[in-house]
Amino acid sequence: MVLIRIPKPWQIESQPITSETAYRQRRRFLKSMIGFGLGATIFPSISCSRQTDVGGSDLSKTIPKDKLQGVKRSPVYSGDNLRITPEADSSQYNNFYEFGGTKNIWQAAQALPTDDWKVEVTGLVNKPRTFDLDDLTKEFPLEERIYRFRCVEAWAMVVPWLGFPMRSLIKAVDPTSKAKFVRFTSFYDPKICPGPGGWVDASGLPWPYTESLRIDEMAHDLAFFAVGIYGHRLPKQHGAPLRMVTPWKYGFKGAKSIVKIEFMNFQPPTYWNTLAPDEYSFEANVNPNVPHPRWSQAEERLLGTGLHPAVWERQPTLLYNGYPEVSSLYGGV
Ligand code: MTE
Repeated sequence: MVLIRIPKPWQIESQPITSETAYRQRRRFLKSMIGFGLGATIFPSISCSRQTDVGGSDLSKTIPKDKLQGVKRSPVYSGDNLRITPEADSSQYNNFYEFGGTKNIWQAAQALPTDDWKVEVTGLVNKPRTFDLDDLTKEFPLEERIYRFRCVEAWAMVVPWLGFPMRSLIKAVDPTSKAKFVRFTSFYDPKICPGPGGWVDASGLPWPYTESLRIDEMAHDLAFFAVGIYGHRLPKQHGAPLRMVTPWKYGFKGAKSIVKIEFMNFQPPTYWNTLAPDEYSFEANVNPNVPHPRWSQAEERLLGTGLHPAVWERQPTLLYNGYPEVSSLYGGV
């Protein structure tokens, strides 16, 4: 059940010529609707059904199953003292706006075509490459890392990712000294991705979904590319076959289903920061002391700890989501 109030067409005023005030108000409303949550912080949706086998057989042409078997857990990010979120919960409460604006997009996301996936790595690098998944998993040893995950909407989870550190990819493509930022682009095809739905016009949104890191952020040991989760391939709703994981930042920094990675000498525009810069900063580091303009970030709700998000357990948000080792990237603050 989705408790989002999307106005019916007859509830939206239509006028042949929109006044400037009306235009601005509408833009603000649009922003507040699509600016995360579509009401999720107030009335989040939750699926009533439970499904654990979410890998989907058509992922077989991505990463061979056996490559993910027996992958060792990192002794550094072993998740001691962390309670792993049940897969049945994390795999059915997702954000993937290309496939819908609610948390129930896991079925719609199965439309993502994952065969013959390629990732182009280009820009200010000495060794540009187009990797297929076989290259990636052969060249970069896989490990399992258990990370905390904090969405800007104030829900949180703990997830065992399978993948490799982003710095291994940096080393392989050898950026030039001019490279200062890296842009990550998600898959997008308007014929396949309907967008958030409701009355939001997907064609007006800044597709494809892109995110970006400073190159020194990307080189931090915590920055990770995931190709799997809970010991198997990444299901489509989590961003198969390759996604970013930057656990000290809000979840929207982690672009899903990456097709392109560009090293650049300027800070590129990114999806949410373009839509609502006052709400979604470029840096987006988790910080309990910096409220979102529409809600507090002091506490977080733990995904799946109750029958409805409104009653999920709460806990205090930690600076950098509990990864103080990144503070050196931000002047030690
Ligand atoms: N990547 C793409 N391409 N599209 C998206 O809508 N949503 C982001 C991020 N990556 C998003 C995306 C947001 S807002 C969050 S919180 C996380 O994905 C959610 O990841 P999950 O669904 O795997 O938990």
